Amino acid sequence: MKRSGSTHPTMLQTSPYSTSLMNKRLDINLGARSYPIFIGPGLLREPDLLRPWIGAQQVMVVSNTTVAPLYLESLRAGLTGLQVAECILPDGEIYKGLNTWHGIFDALLARRFARDCTLIALGGGVVGDITGFAAACYQRGVSFIQVPTTLLAQVDSSVGGKTGINHPAGKNMIGAFHQPVAVIADTDTLSTLPARELAAGLAEVVKYGLIRDPAFFDWLEARADALCNRDAVALIEAIERSCQNKAEVVEADERELGQRALLNLGHTFGHAIEAGLGYGDWLHGEAVAAGMVMAAELSRQLGWLDAAAVSRIRRLLTRFGLPVAPPPGLGGERMLELMAVDKKVRAGAPRLVLLQGIGSALVTRDVTAEQIMASIDATRDQSAGG
Ligand SMILES: NC(=O)c1ccc[n+]([C@@H]2O[C@H](COP(=O)([O-])OP(=O)(O)OC[C@H]3O[C@@H](n4cnc5c(N)ncnc54)[C@H](O)[C@@H]3O)[C@@H](O)[C@H]2O)c1
Ligand SMILES: [Zn+2]
Repeated sequence: MKRSGSTHPTMLQTSPYSTSLMNKRLDINLGARSYPIFIGPGLLREPDLLRPWIGAQQVMVVSNTTVAPLYLESLRAGLTGLQVAECILPDGEIYKGLNTWHGIFDALLARRFARDCTLIALGGGVVGDITGFAAACYQRGVSFIQVPTTLLAQVDSSVGGKTGINHPAGKNMIGAFHQPVAVIADTDTLSTLPARELAAGLAEVVKYGLIRDPAFFDWLEARADALCNRDAVALIEAIERSCQNKAEVVEADERELGQRALLNLGHTFGHAIEAGLGYGDWLHGEAVAAGMVMAAELSRQLGWLDAAAVSRIRRLLTRFGLPVAPPPGLGGERMLELMAVDKKVRAGAPRLVLLQGIGSALVTRDVTAEQIMASIDATRDQSAGG
């Protein structure tokens, strides 16, 4: 992955964007599937930013009932001269399913959209995942642009090409790898994001520090207050550094045959919390935060991580207003059961991401149910004890 120094000629010639010091460009290098990630304030107002990534006339903007009233008009201003249609989805993780996805095809077919059309996902991870999966399948694959508007989507879900929908039997069970042609993260959109959603995004930011970037973890500790207060410079830096980490991981392992699995730190525990409470009670990032503490505690019990590191992790997540223990109503037995049906479990043994230090992670199956249970209980006890 390289920073700035675009190799895309159209971009260099047409965008006034590079003149702003606040704005960043990263490139994710995946051969023919390479694409840029633009990060900065006011990008939706840049008239020439979208156009270079749109091949033909037909463009379908997919958004939802919360985000469209806020940002669709600005986005449309950058699409003049094109045949632009809209598809506005209901808002919520519960709508990330087959019916909503199918509705996008209805909209595309009703307008006779052709193979050379472009979809634009304007919204958080839900809109991005469904739109990306629709783009992967419509006429066997069309282009799409990610315009992420939540912190979680800007640091995680819009980058890397995982797209999909939920099945009643499990989250993200149906999907495809389909890379966008560009990611445009306008950090001004974060101003309208509810505080809880911002914190949920910060959980994924912390994850990058924990799995591979210890200096970033230190930086997050130093800038925690600024991030909570939505300091623009701090947020842009956190997003850029997160995307850089994600890009490097995806470049090395696009299809998750190896190290990309490290991005699942805290997620096996976290998915059990989300499923156990019923999706929508805790946010994904909140469940991941508690899950990362359980993974850290398990790592400590195995002798891989010292107690001081676990305390640092708890402290940082707490400063972001994130939970650091499983929900009181969800027992350890039930969590274990739910972890066993998570897709990361194969051939009986849970595949867990654990820590060998802050900034160093590994995947292991070599953990017993008793050890997992002990880490869940210890995390709960420590939290109860302050
Ligand atoms: N594809 C991937 O690699 C990947 C990675 C992580 C998460 N995900 C998926 O992402 C989803 C979670 O994404 P999310 O946290 O963005 O949730 P989300 O898309 O549900 O957005 C959260 C809420 O914020 C609202 N919203 C979005 N932008 C806003 C803005 N600028 N101002 C005000 N409100 C705004 C949304 O309408 C929604 O109500 C999950 O479905 C998860 O599975 C995918
Ligand atoms: Zn996640």
